[in-house]
Amino acid sequence: MKAVIVTPGRPRSGRLAEVPQPVPKPGEVLVRMREVGIDGTDAEILDGQYGEAPPGDGYLIIGHESLGRVETVTGGVEDLVPGDWVVAIVRRPDPVPCPNCAVGEWDMCLNGLYSERGIKGLHGFLAEYYVEQPRYLVKLPDELTSVGVLLEPLTIAEKALDQIERIQSRLVWQPDRAVVLGAGPVGLLAALALRLRELEVYVYDRAEPGLKSELVEAMGAHYIWAEKRRLDHKLADEIGPIDVIFEATGYSPLAFDAMDTVAPNGIVCLSGVSGGGRTVQVSADHLNLELVLGNRVVFGTVNANRRHFEAGVQHLSEIEARWPGLLSRIITTRLPMNRFAEALQRQPGNVKAVVEVFPLPAGVGQPV
Ligand code: BGC
Ligand code: ZN
Repeated sequence: MKAVIVTPGRPRSGRLAEVPQPVPKPGEVLVRMREVGIDGTDAEILDGQYGEAPPGDGYLIIGHESLGRVETVTGGVEDLVPGDWVVAIVRRPDPVPCPNCAVGEWDMCLNGLYSERGIKGLHGFLAEYYVEQPRYLVKLPDELTSVGVLLEPLTIAEKALDQIERIQSRLVWQPDRAVVLGAGPVGLLAALALRLRELEVYVYDRAEPGLKSELVEAMGAHYIWAEKRRLDHKLADEIGPIDVIFEATGYSPLAFDAMDTVAPNGIVCLSGVSGGGRTVQVSADHLNLELVLGNRVVFGTVNANRRHFEAGVQHLSEIEARWPGLLSRIITTRLPMNRFAEALQRQPGNVKAVVEVFPLPAGVGQPV
């Protein structure tokens, strides 16, 4: 079968190749890939900075944001039938397992020995087919086919909001306002999830007003162009106390500005991966004092577990019902497999690029 593979550690080694098609063992499912989203982690893997091939293989099939259709099921599979639309969970528990992986919370793995499809030690989904156990597959209703590839990036926000709610159960908390840093796919999906919770939402991004600001306004949120204003307490003076700041740019200096901007009792959630080696000067005493005297929380979050995928399916449906067509507009580029590299090009009007492996049959999964 055709797959996009990389030699981990070797920059620009990404290529379309012919690889053996996986064969399902009893209890497993064969899935035919519909489309695969490309994100910053894929860019880092294709750039040779990240990624690990499965043991014994000299290459890694990339891709972890998937949407596919069950092709065949083997004996012992109960909840899935051919034709079902499915999204695969990315991370797998470590073999020890640590206490978190042991209870299905592999997103909280303690020992780092977890694997991730398309990223760390397991082949990914940018291929014509993959094989998986049903417990790592999440079923999607047919109506969500055109936007289902957004489920995995949404789960990053789902986990973050789940964590925020759990952490904030430390106090009486009635949040009114959230600022999302970054209007990329994760930022926009987080903003939508916060809007579903009826918060007043501001999205902060360096892109000049255009598609991103239109999407933000279409969900009833406000766009802040970073060029025009800094993230600091003057912003809070103007819009009101900011209870939640969700960082989704990976531009690490913003994390410190966020700590200095969030309201008393508020929470700063960091989800952006910053692979570089940037250093900045910070007002350590001032930030420490603000965190202490304001009971503020700063925390990091990565990945997601099955609960977040299931919550994400429900929220995709709610978003589609409340803002019809908005999710589809986040997918700005669809490319055939042999042009996967173009998904990495950052252009002002682009938000999410996906690689189409098998086009939709006419009339299937089209929004009604
Ligand atoms: C994926 C996560 C993964 C992370 C780090 C992200 O792009 O969405 O599931 O844990 O990369 O490897
Ligand atoms: Zn673990």
